[in-house]
Amino acid sequence: MTALHILVTAGPTHEPIDPVRYLANRSSGKQGFAIAAALAARGARVTLVAGPVALPTPPGVTRIDVETALEMAAAVEAALPVDAAMMVAAVADWRVDRTAQKIKKGPDGPPTLQLVENPDILATLAASPLRPRLLIGFAAETERVTEHATAKLTRKRADWIVANDVSGDVMGGAANAVHIVTAGGIESWERLPKDEVAARLADRILATLAPNGSATFDTPDTHCYDPAMSGSITIALKRLPHGEGLPLPVYATEGAAGMDVVAAEETVLVPGARAAIATGFAIAIPPGYEVQVRPRSGLALKHGITCLNTPGTIDSDYRGEVKVILANLGQEPFAIARGDRIAQLVPAPVQRAVLEVVEALDDTARGVGGFGSTGR
Ligand code: CTP
Repeated sequence: MTALHILVTAGPTHEPIDPVRYLANRSSGKQGFAIAAALAARGARVTLVAGPVALPTPPGVTRIDVETALEMAAAVEAALPVDAAMMVAAVADWRVDRTAQKIKKGPDGPPTLQLVENPDILATLAASPLRPRLLIGFAAETERVTEHATAKLTRKRADWIVANDVSGDVMGGAANAVHIVTAGGIESWERLPKDEVAARLADRILATLAPNGSATFDTPDTHCYDPAMSGSITIALKRLPHGEGLPLPVYATEGAAGMDVVAAEETVLVPGARAAIATGFAIAIPPGYEVQVRPRSGLALKHGITCLNTPGTIDSDYRGEVKVILANLGQEPFAIARGDRIAQLVPAPVQRAVLEVVEALDDTARGVGGFGSTGR
């Protein structure tokens, strides 16, 4: 059985000004470390990407130390795929466009620091094909806390924003009063020790990822739906040996109708060729539903790569490997690498019918006109 893999970022980042100076902020890392500890204590596999803080690594947590925002962004990307990510770090919004030499006092007066924007790690992850099922941001605000946090939820495309008011001694302090902001509303918690905030958040995260409670240790192998989307159905997914290590089908954006699915093999499709490409998993769709396999528009437009039987249907009683029948209608050979996104999966309700044989059909104004009878 595989543990849920959860990524936590924590602490500040240090942005060098020159070889001896840096820009920093007052984040202590305590809240992020406490969350990592609480998740690990509950059996999750936790990767903690930590900015420069002098805190002990919580038991059972894999820690990756970084200094700058760019290093943190790279470490987060390297940790994927994960089931959930909690971005607790106070990432510097800007770094210094720095010189390699130490800045010296001189006759020219004070130096000017040129700032360059850092990547938004949370927003980048939200838009990534490897977006985790549950993506949580933190917001440190000094005024209109929930209003700003609600705007941040939409802007960063997170599932939850945990907002706190840092106008007091929260940064570096031992207690925190947080508001949990989701698309469904705002829940405000009383001021609690950071360990208690962490314990409650960890419980809530695990309950969200494994709603039936029993699946805490094996959800990566059994669920591939986004619980944040309303009206979702549960589709059991079994990874096959050659699918190990590949990202599960995932919704690339908040409003995406289809989950992008990746290839579990590599091949080259010459012009005019077709092939059933392995995905490395099998699924059990609930009765009354199908999953449609549809082409990706970018591949179709740029390369002439389409699903030949589009929209393909995966029936609810099919338990074999999901394969995507791709055809190359373009003029160039098309190389597919393992892990490339090749199609999208769209679950849909099925309307079945019963046939009744009759002698005559009812009349309509159109009658038998068809096949272009209404004009071009
Ligand atoms: N964050 C991030 N990468 C950045 C900046 C922020 O991943 N470069 C994440 C933080 O870890 C946190 C969330 O985004 O989860 C909110 O960060 P914050 O700096 O408060 O938000 P901003 O978008 O910078 O908004 P503002 O400065 O207006 O408060």
